[in-house]
Amino acid sequence: MAKGNSHCNDHHGLWTMLSFSLVSLFYFTVCTSAYEHARNTSTAFSLNTQSYELSSLAINSRPEPCPPCFNCQLDAFSCGHYGECSNYDGQCKCPSGWAGIDCLTPQCDSLADGEKRRQREEGKKCECKEGWGGVNCNVCKTDAACANFPLRKQPDVGFADDDDLPISNMTCYKGGDTVIENHQICDVTNRKILDMLPDRPPEVTFSCDKLDGTCQFQFWTAQVESFYCTLGNCTSGIDIGTDYNQTNYQCDDIKCKCVPGRFICGEGGSINIEEFLSTMITGPASFSCQTGHGCKFEEPGLNNLISMFFGDACLDMW
Ligand SMILES: *[C@@H]1O[C@H](CO)[C@@H](O)[C@H](O)[C@H]1NC(C)=O
Ligand SMILES: *[C@@H]1O[C@H](CO)[C@@H](O)[C@H](O)[C@H]1NC(C)=O
Ligand SMILES: *[C@@H]1O[C@H](CO)[C@@H](O)[C@H](O)[C@H]1NC(C)=O
Ligand SMILES: *[C@@H]1O[C@H](CO)[C@@H](O)[C@H](O)[C@H]1NC(C)=O
Repeated sequence: MAKGNSHCNDHHGLWTMLSFSLVSLFYFTVCTSAYEHARNTSTAFSLNTQSYELSSLAINSRPEPCPPCFNCQLDAFSCGHYGECSNYDGQCKCPSGWAGIDCLTPQCDSLADGEKRRQREEGKKCECKEGWGGVNCNVCKTDAACANFPLRKQPDVGFADDDDLPISNMTCYKGGDTVIENHQICDVTNRKILDMLPDRPPEVTFSCDKLDGTCQFQFWTAQVESFYCTLGNCTSGIDIGTDYNQTNYQCDDIKCKCVPGRFICGEGGSINIEEFLSTMITGPASFSCQTGHGCKFEEPGLNNLISMFFGDACLDMW
């Protein structure tokens, strides 16, 4: 174990917060819309023509039904990461950092790129801009990465157009309290979880918005997301100790959801904790990190699950 100042983040140089020293400089990430035009009339027309030709050729073979277009108003579809489903067009409005028709595709580049962040390509890892890291590039590593950072929300102005946002040279803050927003990434360290995943290192990303009192949690293996949680009514703080400092996030509310077909969420027809997540994870939840002692994510239902399967008290991270 590393000595001295070794938060789960410091160890990797990754635990970072964007600290905005002037409280008046409110920053807020603009929700990214992921409208995709699911309907394409010319394609629909040619499919129908094809079906017609097929059925006239072989009377007994039915044409393959066209897959239904994505519509999050239908039970068969949903918006990932608790994105909003529009009842106007049945498309998802994704929370910041997520894109794709169902909000399950991470965005890359860097936090500074806001709405212009590119989507991760299918089956690939994110390419982060210089100075940024983490599965989805939202963790700054250097102050230079935060230079000329766009301030997305100003008091009295509200959301501005991305092109004429005021900018400021921020610092990449790697310890202490959350001022406006924070983003962290940790490696999961529970021995038996690691043994189950020899080639697919498990990681956790955790982000909070202080003004909203909300946090988001994601569990990944080899940068593929398994399940995620949204937490509400959160408070956070830092205890300054003589030997170590401890940061705490306490949230009264939490709900979690599987990404269908992923590790522990039905991958290859194996274990699926979806039902468990929706019924047993009810809060309260906490995420705490101690200098030199790593981080812990605790929630009564999740602790039970981890204790049952792995014999550990909670999800440990570094
Ligand atoms: C429909 O798809 C075709 C082929 O991909 C494309 O050329 C055309 O522009 C699309 N039409 C609309 C209305 O999006
Ligand atoms: C940020 O720093 C760079 C170089 O250090 C400087 O050229 C630029 O004017 C600064 N921008 C702001 C908004 O202060
Ligand atoms: C916070 O708590 C209130 C009262 O229990 C509840 O109505 C609200 O939904 C909670 N907020 C979130 C984001 O969970
Ligand atoms: C704890 O935080 C204080 C204030 O930010 C800092 O000066 C100190 O170095 C930190 N201690 C450790 C062990 O990281």
